[in-house]
Amino acid sequence: MSRASLEKQPDDVAAMFDDVAARYDLTNDVLSLGQTRLWRRAVAQALDVAPGERVLDLGAGTGTSSLPFLAAGATVVPCDFSLGMLREGKKRHPELPLTAGDATRLPFADGVFDAVTISFALRNVHDTDEALREMRRVVRPGGRLVICEFSQPTYRPFRTVYTEYLMRALPPVARSVSSNPEAYVYLAETIREWPDQKALAGRLQSAGWRGVAWRNLTGGIVALHRGTKP
Ligand SMILES: C[S@@+](CC[C@H](N)C(=O)[O-])C[C@H]1O[C@@H](n2cnc3c(N)ncnc32)[C@H](O)[C@@H]1O
Repeated sequence: MSRASLEKQPDDVAAMFDDVAARYDLTNDVLSLGQTRLWRRAVAQALDVAPGERVLDLGAGTGTSSLPFLAAGATVVPCDFSLGMLREGKKRHPELPLTAGDATRLPFADGVFDAVTISFALRNVHDTDEALREMRRVVRPGGRLVICEFSQPTYRPFRTVYTEYLMRALPPVARSVSSNPEAYVYLAETIREWPDQKALAGRLQSAGWRGVAWRNLTGGIVALHRGTKP
């Protein structure tokens, strides 16, 4: 399977994730130097779900990003368009109601969720703005959104070192742990091309989200953006 193009053809993106599904969680932990756990905790804190709330975890992959909401007593629906990731998720977390769906055409009625979240997936969606509008459609008025995504380190010298890590060190490390190292070159390229914190906040506003703000994690390697449906 060749690398998905930066035009992000949905079929290529889904096939690429099908391909890496079996070793996805392990590769993640290795490449992020164990930071993923910390980032997931921060997402759960930011979304602040109450027991019984209905939460959509979009681009949920194997469902690992959904577990903190289940633990908080919410009804979480993990949704993804890679059947390979969903299959792997079903093996590992049979308790999760993993659901097939495309972020740009969600298979849910208007206003059915209290909150929606998307971790390390919005960057892969072929139409970011449509996904932001779809997420807004499926939450109730007053519903919350938290996006967890790679972003721009704020300290310039660190940003340079980090970009070097992404483009030089990450592909060889990925080669040793992943079933599809090319996918991780794609990962590095999409991180480099992704809008910075302020630009993404503007996209949320344009999609109709209000109270938009963000918080940097690990010096801005990751940013959590949040918004509320008016
Ligand atoms: C890097 S994984 C993140 C998985 C999980 N959220 C996590 O934090 O581990 C990105 C996921 O986004 C999914 N994805 C990409 N584009 C999508 C789309 N248009 N609709 C639904 N899922 C999509 C991929 O299939 C993949 O499983």
